Amino acid sequence: MMSSVSVVVFAALMNIAPVEASFGFGGCPSQAVVDPFIETTFMGTWYEFGKSASLGMLFSRCPKIAYAAGANGLINVTEDWITWFSKGCKTGQMKKANPSKSEGKYSISFWAGAYNGKENNVTAANYNILNTDYSNYAIIWDCFNAFLFHTVSVRVITRERVPPQAIIDTIYKDFDSRKISRFGFVQRNQQNCND
Ligand SMILES: *[C@@H]1O[C@H](CO)[C@@H](O)[C@H](O)[C@H]1NC(C)=O
Ligand SMILES: *[C@@H]1O[C@H](CO)[C@@H](O)[C@H](O)[C@H]1NC(C)=O
Repeated sequence: MMSSVSVVVFAALMNIAPVEASFGFGGCPSQAVVDPFIETTFMGTWYEFGKSASLGMLFSRCPKIAYAAGANGLINVTEDWITWFSKGCKTGQMKKANPSKSEGKYSISFWAGAYNGKENNVTAANYNILNTDYSNYAIIWDCFNAFLFHTVSVRVITRERVPPQAIIDTIYKDFDSRKISRFGFVQRNQQNCND
């Protein structure tokens, strides 16, 4: 009885389209990351091509991200976007999850000073660079283990606001080979961004 009830609850959850892609049963799958990851080549301006559906996406467009060298080996992160009536911006920091490794596993936080005093410590990897060619695209992935299931969020950033189709094909081919669902992955509106 109990188990059939939970099956129904899960079936209901799975029918909520934007949520479906980010849910999976069992623990987080493992995904290979870029290694070695060349931080300095990754720096600079990117645009969010798409990401796992979230509420905030309804109210924003033209998301832009900049990574720059910050203090004490941290990376400064600046994100800005356009809303219906104005502009939004937030700043944060990023660090290597394990500073002694060359892999593309990072910790990101938008709390000021989140990593002060922890610059050389091992911190939770919540920003994993699965793939990048540095000059066109990067695929970023995070997974959260919950009881009996996990949620995945995936983000794709590109150097051009509207990348060429060949780059989009490359990105989705990588999704397929990693069994990352495209369902629930939403492309961002990067039209009429006034730049
Ligand atoms: C990085 O961000 C910190 C905190 O916002 C700021 O104080 C610092 O000036 C920034 N560094 C660079 C190089 O932009
Ligand atoms: C960072 O690591 C050092 C050395 O292991 C430790 O002493 C310190 O408490 C850690 N800092 C934080 C904020 O966890």
